[in-house]
Parts: sequence; C-alpha cells; structure tokens
Amino acid sequence: MTPDSELGIGQVGLGSITGAHRQGYRLYGQPVVAGYDPNPAARARFAEEEPDATVHETLESLLADPRVGLVDIATPHHRPTRLPVVQQIADAGVPMLIQKPLAYSYEDALEMVQAIERNGVTAMVNQNMCFTPGSLRLVDALMKDRVVGRPDFAQVTVQYVFDLPDHPWFGKDDRWWTGALTVHHFGLLQLLFGPPETVYAVTGRDETQPGVTIDGYGHLLLRYPSGMSVAITSTGTYYGTDPVPHGNEKLWIQGPEGIVDWRPEGGLAVSRRSGAEFEVTRVDWDRERRWFPDAFGLTMAHFRQALAAGREPLCSAQDNLHVMALIEAAYRSSAENRVVPLAEIMGDRWNPGYGTGWSHGFGEWVAPEVLEVTA
Ligand SMILES: NC(=O)c1ccc[n+]([C@@H]2O[C@H](COP(=O)([O-])OP(=O)(O)OC[C@H]3O[C@@H](n4cnc5c(N)ncnc54)[C@H](O)[C@@H]3O)[C@@H](O)[C@H]2O)c1
Repeated sequence: MTPDSELGIGQVGLGSITGAHRQGYRLYGQPVVAGYDPNPAARARFAEEEPDATVHETLESLLADPRVGLVDIATPHHRPTRLPVVQQIADAGVPMLIQKPLAYSYEDALEMVQAIERNGVTAMVNQNMCFTPGSLRLVDALMKDRVVGRPDFAQVTVQYVFDLPDHPWFGKDDRWWTGALTVHHFGLLQLLFGPPETVYAVTGRDETQPGVTIDGYGHLLLRYPSGMSVAITSTGTYYGTDPVPHGNEKLWIQGPEGIVDWRPEGGLAVSRRSGAEFEVTRVDWDRERRWFPDAFGLTMAHFRQALAAGREPLCSAQDNLHVMALIEAAYRSSAENRVVPLAEIMGDRWNPGYGTGWSHGFGEWVAPEVLEVTA
C-alpha cells in the first residue's frame, strides 16, 4: 500500500490530449507534480499551465523526482516511441497509467506487459471510456443491478466523419480505426463482458477521404464463450444524414430480463416486457459531467485509489492484453477473410474462463464526487 500523499503524478508526453487530462485531474483533485517531453514547446506549455510542477528535460530525471509516485504516459503509441518509455519506467519500478491504445500490435503490447511483470509494477491502461460518468451508471446497471440478467447480445453503432488531413499522424497509420478508435469500445466491452472467443471483421477505407489514408472503418462480429455475441458497426467515413458520433455512440444490450439502451452522454433506458406491453425505466445523470474531461479525472482517481489500497486496478495492462488480442485478431480476420479465435493470438495466455474485466480489478471502488473548482 502507498500513502495517497506519495502518489504525485508525473506526466510523460505533454502533447494535445494531456490538456484534457489535466482539466480532469483538477476536477477530481488529482495532483500533477512533474512533466517531461523531449519537445521544448510542449514543456513550455506545461510549465505555464502547471506552475507548481517540476519540468524535466529527461525521463531519467522525472523518474528520480521524489514527488513522482506514478507516471501518466501520453506519448504516441507507435512502437519506437511507446515501448522504450514503458520499459524504462517499469525498470525504475514506478507504477504507470498508459494512454490507450496500449500498442497497435499484440506483440508490442506483450513486450510491455513482460517488462511490467518482470519488475512487479502496477500498470493500468487509460481506457477512459470505462470511466465516463455515463459508463459508471452502465456498469452499475449491468454488473451490480443485473438489469438485463446474463447478456445475450449487444450492438454498438458509431458512424460519423472523422477526418484530420492536417494532423501529422492521426489517420495515417497502417492500423488506425480499429486499433486507435474502436479500442475505446473494446475496453468497455472487456470490462462488461470479458474477452470474446472469436472475431470476424471487415476493415477498410473510403478512398475519397483525404485525412484517413489507409484504415477508416472496421465492422466486427464477436462471439463469447457464454454464447453471447456483439455486433459493432464503426466508421469514420460516414457523411450521410444520420450521424452517430464517437463520444455519443449507441450501445444496446439484451438479456432475458430486458434491454438497456445507452449513450455515454445521452442517458440510459431499461425496457422490459410486462405482459403484452413494454415498460421503460430511465436513468439520467448530471449532464454537466461529460467524457472530456471528467473521464480522465475519474480514471486517474481510480488508479491512484487502487495503488493506495494495494489493489489491482480495473483495465490493468494484463487485462488489456485481451483488448490487444482482439485488435490483432480483427486485422488478421479482415486480411484473411476468416473467423479468428483469440486463443490463436494469445497462446498460453488465453483462458476461456477468464470472465469479465470487472471481476479482475478494484470493483468495489466508489467514484469520487467532482470538486467545486473551475476546470
Ligand atoms: N480519448 C482519448 O483517450 C485520447 C484522445 C487523443 C489521443 N489519445 C492517445 O494519447 C496519446 C498521445 O496523443 P496526442 O494527441 O497527445 O499526441 P501528440 O502528438 O499531440 O503528443 C504526443 C507528445 O509526446 C511527445 N513525445 C514523443 N516521444 C516522447 C518520448 N520518448 N518521451 C516523452 N514524450 C514524448 C511528443 O513530443 C508530443 O508532445 C496517443 O496514444 C493517442 O492515441 C487518447
């Protein structure tokens, strides 16, 4: 167990997403004490925003900072940038929260997890969709209140225009849509249902789209050891008249007791058969509390509380290997036009009885209330 006061946050990689991280941390009282980025402009922006934090010019120096109790990694997730950073932090024995996706390939993710396990450090992947205020209500409904009973089927729909032609790397990688975007949904599905047994996937692109050059959509069918299945329609190529944007995607889940309709920022409804009629119960939450930035503050709060309690966090790096195996299996499925079992990717690490991600972490965690501060 680590006293809360020793869990100062050292941010590594101070690029665009870390502004939202810090906004969320301020909302939930999560202390940023240090930052490092090789880019002087990124360090200068950080220094201006966090005048009480120490700005480091090397990772080594940040890791030696006595105020740093954990590292918040937000470097790009490409192998040459991510892997050595994770290895160095693991070798220093420092716990870390790692921005999603952990990696683009299962092989890279496994190398990181091996470094983490070799050094006995605790690491969590920042699957922040699991910690949106709305997701926490969904978890309560499905995992605690069991409102649909044992889930049989779920459907995820994401369809909108995602196009950043001027961004230096978003949308330009060989693996992009399923690896970097649908990974949000994979993280939530892993928490709720655990790993699927097999995946069939179709990935591709709209050749007229200027900013996403290789991998612009990924539609998947997942089958689970329990007999459950999940259909995912996910695309950033859609410019039709019925957009369903990432951030407010549609998810519905059916079980013998009912159906849950849910959107991260759009409320939750439970529908049940009542004789020949249907009965609907609606659950809402404070709409001021959104994915950006609240989920970042809540993810960090969860990680720091798990460390303080000496508990495995939800979405641990080991748990996330299932998400990474799903990504790997999806690309293989699409390339080879066949159903791919996750066991084929995970080998000895595949356990058909693994269960939900929820059953593998600090599931009794109670989310903190937002502080009365301006983010
Ligand atoms: N909703 C979300 O959770 C969300 C949203 C956007 C981005 N992301 C993820 O966050 C990560 C970063 O994305 P971004 O948009 O901030 O990228 P970015 O390109 O804006 O910033 C990356 C930063 O990392 C720095 N960097 C590069 N190599 C480094 C190293 N060895 N050590 C320390 N810093 C290094 C760069 O100088 C840059 O400042 C990516 O993995 C991305 O997928 C997540």
